[in-house]
Amino acid sequence: MQIVIQADAAAVAEYGAAVFIRQLQQQPASVLGLATGSTPVALYQRLIRAYQQGEISFRQVKTFNLDEYLGLAGSHPQSYRYFMQQQLFKHIDIPATATAVPDGMAADPIAACEHYEQQIAAAGGIDLQLLGLGRNGHIGFNEPSSGLRSRTRIKTLTQDTIKDNARFFQPGEYQPHLSLTMGIGTILDARKVILLATGKAKAQAVKAMIEGPLSASCPASALQLHQQALVVLDEEAASELSQLEFYRHIERENASLLARLGRS
Ligand code: GLP
Repeated sequence: MQIVIQADAAAVAEYGAAVFIRQLQQQPASVLGLATGSTPVALYQRLIRAYQQGEISFRQVKTFNLDEYLGLAGSHPQSYRYFMQQQLFKHIDIPATATAVPDGMAADPIAACEHYEQQIAAAGGIDLQLLGLGRNGHIGFNEPSSGLRSRTRIKTLTQDTIKDNARFFQPGEYQPHLSLTMGIGTILDARKVILLATGKAKAQAVKAMIEGPLSASCPASALQLHQQALVVLDEEAASELSQLEFYRHIERENASLLARLGRS
């Protein structure tokens, strides 16, 4: 895992966006894995700006979102499809047919999950997957106890996650307890993974992900198995790490090595 610590959430978004911008400049027909939640919003805003300024185009890009609520149509304001339309897709030049989000209203959601895996495979796999982090260590909607090699499937949400996400729903509004989510195995198959975490509320999950044992109790710890996982944190999210100074030291060493090689 490469661990990058930035001063604050804005710098995390900036750093993460630069990774995506580089990816699209080097490989304009990239397959991107995308995430919802509040953490990636600032990154998406930076990508929209980069598109408006002509730095990048999404014309040849394909996207696959991590997850969706079971029972919400894409037109529902709390659905993740709706979120992606509002936060990113409607502002950029990506063809509507190139954006995939699991179908929360599929007549047969089990078959829809299998189909999602086939669609990812048919696109050639995911080049760069964006992730947020749940307070309980979940990635996508892979809650604690999720199989570390799981594939896209239906997952029951924990009470903690339902509570955390309740802020997006109106009081009294139906809030789904089930989701369709890429599995941990699906996420690990992405060629590169970038996880963003900001704020004090994520500090325990960040510690378990990076320094804890590889365990289904912290699904994000599965990233320890990935060959190219980049974790970008702000100071608050990094604050519980016991080897904090070592990670900063590694980053300085990396930067000076790359500068020596003329690759910075
Ligand atoms: C939801 C999503 C996750 C996301 C998490 C954290 O549960 N399914 O993909 O990472 O929320 O969200 P936030 O970034 O708002 O803290």
